[in-house]
Amino acid sequence: MTSDQVAIVAIAAAWSAGVGLLGLVVAWLTRRRSLRWQTATVAVTAVVAVAAGVVGTARAMFLSDHDLEVVLWVVVVAGVVAIAVSGVVGAVLARWSRSMRGDVRRFGDSGEYVPAARGPAELQEISDELAQTAKRLQESRARETRLEESRRELVSWVSHDLRSPLAALRAMTEALEDGLGDPERYHRRIRAEVDRMVRMVDDLFELSRIHAGVLSLNLEPVSLGDVVSEAIAGADPVALAGGVRLGGRVDAGLFVTADPGELSRVVANLLLNAIRHTPSDGTVEVSGRAVGDGIELAVVDGCGGLSNEDMARVFDVAWQGTSARTPTPDSAVDRGAGLGLAIVKGIVEAHRGRVTVANEAPGCKFVVTLPI
Ligand SMILES: Nc1ncnc2c1ncn2[C@@H]1O[C@H](COP(=O)(O)OP(=O)(O)OP(=O)(O)O)[C@@H](O)[C@H]1O
Ligand SMILES: [Mg+2]
Repeated sequence: MTSDQVAIVAIAAAWSAGVGLLGLVVAWLTRRRSLRWQTATVAVTAVVAVAAGVVGTARAMFLSDHDLEVVLWVVVVAGVVAIAVSGVVGAVLARWSRSMRGDVRRFGDSGEYVPAARGPAELQEISDELAQTAKRLQESRARETRLEESRRELVSWVSHDLRSPLAALRAMTEALEDGLGDPERYHRRIRAEVDRMVRMVDDLFELSRIHAGVLSLNLEPVSLGDVVSEAIAGADPVALAGGVRLGGRVDAGLFVTADPGELSRVVANLLLNAIRHTPSDGTVEVSGRAVGDGIELAVVDGCGGLSNEDMARVFDVAWQGTSARTPTPDSAVDRGAGLGLAIVKGIVEAHRGRVTVANEAPGCKFVVTLPI
């Protein structure tokens, strides 16, 4: 480079940098205004920077007055074109952003967002992000509606399920007062009805603690084998009465970090369900084994399989299969309230585990997976 060229570059750089700085100040001052101000600022800064460079070099005698005039005219014309283009680009950007604002407003009103292909990559990304959010929102609304429905169902079933034993209790106590009926049989039935109501209220309390998120777990290493043997021992009389065989095995030395009381409740609920839905002479198998970094507990029964719709709802609060709500005289006392599996799911999830159900001949298989 000759020394003249160095001088030209230096002078042009100094003048244009001055204008550039001014442009930055204007861009900063107009940062809250429409996008159009920003695009116009960029165009005007570019043109004025060129003009300033030209004037600066002309003043240093590198350009004749005539040449300066010619160049300035050219710059003015180019400037008009640049500002027109920036105006168009700014208007289009503003229109895209307005159309997106409309979509977002509709999203706020209806919860639905239809992503449209528009604008530069950044706008597109925001639009895609909004579409994802809308999807998540819809899913959570659907979940909310289902929960609300099941809560309503729960209240109505619980009041129903409490009213009938209470009516029976009143009838029996009145009969006893009048010296009617067989006192011994009535006492047994009263005792059984009261036990059932206590169980139900206890289940409701547990469920409300789970839903309120205040289930406090006393975690400690628990031997899965011990929990399962205790649950089997507890369920044995029910299995005997129903003619159901209990079997299975838990691998030796299997420990899991859990709340022993809550884990027993999970196993007992699954076991009682399995026994209740297995015909006499059927078998219920409980098995436990280590998987990856956790343990898996499976209960297989002889219920004859569940339909897909039933499988999707078994863990819902207060949901019961069609046959469960039709009381027969002798099933009245051990009839449940549809809370058992909702409690199982709540407890398992509080332990950061998962519970699933699948069909496995001759019945279905409930599998609980817990991290160690
Ligand atoms: N092992 C199973 N085999 C087949 N169906 C089952 C089994 N366990 C549960 N179900 C179905 O799922 C429904 C809900 O079960 P859940 O344990 O939540 O309630 P419940 O047993 O009816 O009453 P509760 O457990 O409150 O005494 C049952 O009514 C039944 O229809
Ligand atoms: Mg149950």
